[in-house]
Amino acid sequence: KIVPVIMAGGKGTRLWPLSRAAAPKQFIQFIGDKTLFQETLARVSDPALYEAPVVLTNEEFRFLVAEQARELDHALKAILLEPVARNTAPAVAAAAALIADLFGKDVIMHVLGSDYEIVADQSYFDSVRAARETAASGKLVTFGINPTEPATGYGYIEGGEDLSAGAQTVKRFIEKPPLDKAKEMVAAGGFYWNSGMFMFQVGALLAEMRNYAPDVVAAAGEAVAKATRDLDFTRLDPQSFAKAPSISIDYAIMEKTANAAVVPSPFKWSDLGSWDSVWKTGTRDPNGNVATANTTLVNSRNSLVMSHGVHLAVQGMEDVAVIASEDAVYVGKLKDSQSVGDLVKTLAALP
Ligand code: GDD
Ligand code: MG
Repeated sequence: KIVPVIMAGGKGTRLWPLSRAAAPKQFIQFIGDKTLFQETLARVSDPALYEAPVVLTNEEFRFLVAEQARELDHALKAILLEPVARNTAPAVAAAAALIADLFGKDVIMHVLGSDYEIVADQSYFDSVRAARETAASGKLVTFGINPTEPATGYGYIEGGEDLSAGAQTVKRFIEKPPLDKAKEMVAAGGFYWNSGMFMFQVGALLAEMRNYAPDVVAAAGEAVAKATRDLDFTRLDPQSFAKAPSISIDYAIMEKTANAAVVPSPFKWSDLGSWDSVWKTGTRDPNGNVATANTTLVNSRNSLVMSHGVHLAVQGMEDVAVIASEDAVYVGKLKDSQSVGDLVKTLAALP
């Protein structure tokens, strides 16, 4: 069986004000009746395919994780708590060390982000099985999404030779390219977006991490060896974990390894990284608007209007995002969605 590893420690500042420091986007309900973290849990709930998941998160989100899992009655193998945020490479390395202890080095882990929407139909589980088969041969496996635009917020994967199970070797992995490079790759064809999910045999991942990120594995391994347990929580040793550099798995390993594979994946995938992607993913009315129930739109088009609090009335607007939480409102052009994170930095600087 596969051990799911759910990464749920990001900050999600571009989705302010619904995504907040105290409860970032993975713990928020955007579309549908579950939070993104709960949707991710639901995707790994088949006991024929999966063990109970290991959840990676920051110390401060531990109760959100425990409570949201309990709401679904979803048992967790462990909640691994990072004392400081060090991005995804140290977190995944710590999960690998823990899983090697619990299940041995041959077990396969499925690493999942918790900030995108996936339609988990038959084709999704076909891709998962193909990835498992490919990972069992020691490859570090990615899921390749067909790019629809030259987005700069994703990793790009160039497919190489055919392997079995429909997978391909990876010629190059380019994390978050500049726009001109992204345009070239989309125009050239043969490139996929990295979905943000990975399938690894634990031993193969640790070996590759020792090659390309020895300081990351050393710090994470020590943090697991000295971890303390209390209830469902496994607390990584703070002094050891703090020695890890802050780097994502994409930059630390996937860009460097010569041992990666990609499973071209036809399932429906949308990143929910910014308000324009929420608008693209949502169900649009005939005027092109995506709106929650407690809103009124007049003479407005192609806009995203969401409220988790007050009633919002919007008149004569186009291509805008109007987002209200219980205590803050954001109004901006959808095309400026990528820079909401900078706005949040300005807000944080206020006295
Ligand atoms: N536990 C933990 N600790 N989780 C983290 C941390 C951390 O320090 N930092 C981020 N995460 C979680 C986020 O909550 C999210 O679910 C996932 O890890 C990915 O992190 P992001 O920060 O959202 O990465 P990204 O969106 O910029 O890029 C990644 O995802 C893209 C697809 O959505 C990369 O893998 C790209 O290559 C990929 O295309
Ligand atoms: Mg993301």
